[in-house]
Amino acid sequence: LKILVINGPNLNLLGKREPDVYGNQSFEDYFSKLQFQFKETELSYFQSNSEGDLITKIQDADGVFDGIVLNAAAYTHTSVGIGDAIAAVSVPVIEVHISNTFAREAFRHQSYISKHAKGIIVGFGLQSYELAIKSFL
Ligand code: DQA
Repeated sequence: LKILVINGPNLNLLGKREPDVYGNQSFEDYFSKLQFQFKETELSYFQSNSEGDLITKIQDADGVFDGIVLNAAAYTHTSVGIGDAIAAVSVPVIEVHISNTFAREAFRHQSYISKHAKGIIVGFGLQSYELAIKSFL
């Protein structure tokens, strides 16, 4: 099973960025733990701060990966293009968020991803990614 984890803008700063909201672990550290935990699964990781690069990665994943775990970060709430990219491919996408976006500002309650996602996991900290991967097994 081949799973691609995609992180959007500012998630390269995990561990340093607003630790009260997002925790103090870097994603690289957490990703190594995931690879150890899911030894039978081929996990890949991609992060970008650019909307176009995220769209291209989703397009290129079609037919290559069995599933995508996507945290589009701030683009969740703004990007029609990322939503359209998910609609355009047949690879299933699970939307994840570290924080409970519904307990935060109103602008974070809107998602352009959810409509096209196979499922959504929100608010479990970094564990949101683990739960999403498990859903593909
Ligand atoms: C986030 C929530 C978004 O609202 C925010 O812009 C992020 C991270 C999360 O994982 O909790 O950058 O996607």
